Amino acid sequence: MRLTLRLVVSLVLGLALVSLAFSYYEVRADKTQLRKDLDRRAEVLAESLEQNASPLLVQGSNKELQRMVERFGNREHLLGVVIYDTQKGRLAISSGLAAHLTQRPAAVDRASRSDAGYGEFVHLGATPAHIYAVPLHQGDTTLGTLAIVHDASYITAQTQYVWKDTFLRVLAQGFLIGLITLLIVRWSVVGPIARTAQWMRSLRTGRYASHPNVPDWDVFSPLTKEVTTFVESLTAARAAAEQEARLREDAESLWTAERLAVHVRSRLRESRLFVVSNREPYIHVREGKLVRTVVPASGLVTALEPILRACDGTWIAHGSGDADRETVNYHDALRVPPDDPKYNLRRVWLNKEEEEGYYYGFANEGLWPLCHIAHTRPAFRASDWQWYQEVNHKFAEAVLQEMDGIERPVLLAQDYHFALLPRLIKKERPDARVAIFWHIPWPNAEAFGICPWQRELLDGLLGADLIGFHLQSHCNNFLQTVDRTLESRIEWDRSAVNREDHLTQVQPFPISVEFAESPPEASASESAYVDRASLFKELGVEATFLGVGVERVDYTKGILERFLALERLLEKHPQYVGRFTFVQIGAPSRTHIKRYHDLLAEVGAEAERINWRFQTANWKPIVYLQRQHSHQEIQRYYRTADVCMVTSLHDGMNLVAKEFVAARHDEQGVLVLSRFAGASRELRDALIVNPYDIEQMAEAVRVALEMSPEDKASRMQHMRRAVRENNIYRWAGNLVAGLCDIRVEKAVPAREQALSNAAGF
Ligand code: G6P
Repeated sequence: MRLTLRLVVSLVLGLALVSLAFSYYEVRADKTQLRKDLDRRAEVLAESLEQNASPLLVQGSNKELQRMVERFGNREHLLGVVIYDTQKGRLAISSGLAAHLTQRPAAVDRASRSDAGYGEFVHLGATPAHIYAVPLHQGDTTLGTLAIVHDASYITAQTQYVWKDTFLRVLAQGFLIGLITLLIVRWSVVGPIARTAQWMRSLRTGRYASHPNVPDWDVFSPLTKEVTTFVESLTAARAAAEQEARLREDAESLWTAERLAVHVRSRLRESRLFVVSNREPYIHVREGKLVRTVVPASGLVTALEPILRACDGTWIAHGSGDADRETVNYHDALRVPPDDPKYNLRRVWLNKEEEEGYYYGFANEGLWPLCHIAHTRPAFRASDWQWYQEVNHKFAEAVLQEMDGIERPVLLAQDYHFALLPRLIKKERPDARVAIFWHIPWPNAEAFGICPWQRELLDGLLGADLIGFHLQSHCNNFLQTVDRTLESRIEWDRSAVNREDHLTQVQPFPISVEFAESPPEASASESAYVDRASLFKELGVEATFLGVGVERVDYTKGILERFLALERLLEKHPQYVGRFTFVQIGAPSRTHIKRYHDLLAEVGAEAERINWRFQTANWKPIVYLQRQHSHQEIQRYYRTADVCMVTSLHDGMNLVAKEFVAARHDEQGVLVLSRFAGASRELRDALIVNPYDIEQMAEAVRVALEMSPEDKASRMQHMRRAVRENNIYRWAGNLVAGLCDIRVEKAVPAREQALSNAAGF
């Protein structure tokens, strides 16, 4: 209220001052003009009376003079006329004037002395008056003086009138401005602030409240932005605190983002964390004049970001967006996430040849099919291998630059793109702790043996202090491959490789997803059933049951096999024709490689063929959505599907399976999961299938569609417990702990060990 009052008073005062100043000048100008007019009028009258008065004065006819002054004495504002002789005697005076004019006015003497007309403003008693005197002549002889006396009080009256008018105007304007200001302040400032305060109060007291209706104006935008961020942090902090309390209550030790942050910071102590991956977490792409930020479809990004956020580390990755160079600083780096910067992203630039040879060639046409047993033949070209080595060196240089001046840095290298990196880093920085996590399977020694550069790859990897895989079986395959290929000592009991004075631990760390305890607000209001109906409407099909598959279009994912199983289901169980629709979300991936390019067309053609065979006017069995979908878009399918199919021919882990489980807060929906996906080791309550067995898969979908809600709920509860406990934070926490627990030590050389064993030590 005080602010409003201050605002109103200042506005009104300002306005009054301006009005008064203007009125003052107006009044002054008016007054001067009126005085001038009066002076001029008196002069003209005096001159005309002089013509009449002079002859009468010569004649000495005072009577005639008196008559003349009486005749002129009643003009507008005229008090009267008076005639004096040269001896100060009064010859004639208008009768109305005699009462006012008691003595000879000074103007009469001035006029007579100067022998010229003279006018001045005086006060006759209380009456303001104007006297104009003019000498009367006969030839050169002065006979007397004639004076015209006007009542000048109308000038004062006029001035007062203007002041009164000004006063009333200021009063009216002040009132109006005060009123308008009050209304504006109330509607536009007090109202929104009160609503924001009310909103914050509701949130503070733990009640849900929707975002207040605050106008999106310049003046409010910094405030609303800050308040929104503040409220989000508050809500997150409260949720975390509640979760912590719940955990303590349950005597459980679930991992949360906050726990990971504390854990990573305490493990790293003074040290800094560096992550290297090929795919960057934020890609900047140009769309016309705008630059858009894209988060790529990659489980790896989802997994690593919480760690980087927790400890403000540095992520080094290939800058692959066409607007990436525009968004970095002089050191090719920027702070991310863009809307809440928490860590550094350092971009490494690759030219076309490098990308072609290292990424498309060696990594994705060589190592990817080599490690995935999906019956696509790996291609090993010497030129690709050359580029792979060069790009590994290039990334190593960038990592070493970033590590410069940092003691005992910690490096988490990611995936099959960087098999040579651990050795390159360790050679230059023996004090660094280096881990590499292999996100894809490791095949058996025979399969890996076909790679012409297997020795170099293994040697590069063994530069690391820790090598992580998803599964124990991948660790075993790796140890066997090393055993058969390089001279080294495998410590099977410690799951480690002892080679050239260096020890490398090899351990499983099953990767996972974030697990939200409660559903997101938007989804809580709608039931899966209602949401599914609206999804079908948007897709333009009329169906009852919904199936979903989500992946990059990759030959390891078994998408074609899945379609054949859907076809078989409809053949064997025609009751599902017209009732069951499967939505396949397929993000195009690595399409520069012919096998991937062809696969895109094959998947489209296969969906088309099956649709053509079964579709009706309003229904089709497969809706194929061939584009990248956002996390939110996919969540909607996860939440509403009756069945989710993950039918990989071979997969390190597969996070879609875990994401589906994490999204089912309603404890419904059935997961059909390939036994060749790493996730099948943990999600044992899924319907586990062999994706090469089409009949079995078709049957699994039927079982899923006909499963009782109780059975679904019990399976989903088990799976949710597994994902909840082994969430992404546990994966990250274990990986960092595993690395930090390792003493960066010199291992006992194999020969010395053999000697000491022989000596019985
Ligand atoms: C797999 C790999 C990741 C990779 C992702 C997406 O999950 O293990 O390293 O990032 O696929 O593939 P892309 O080639 O598009 O990065």
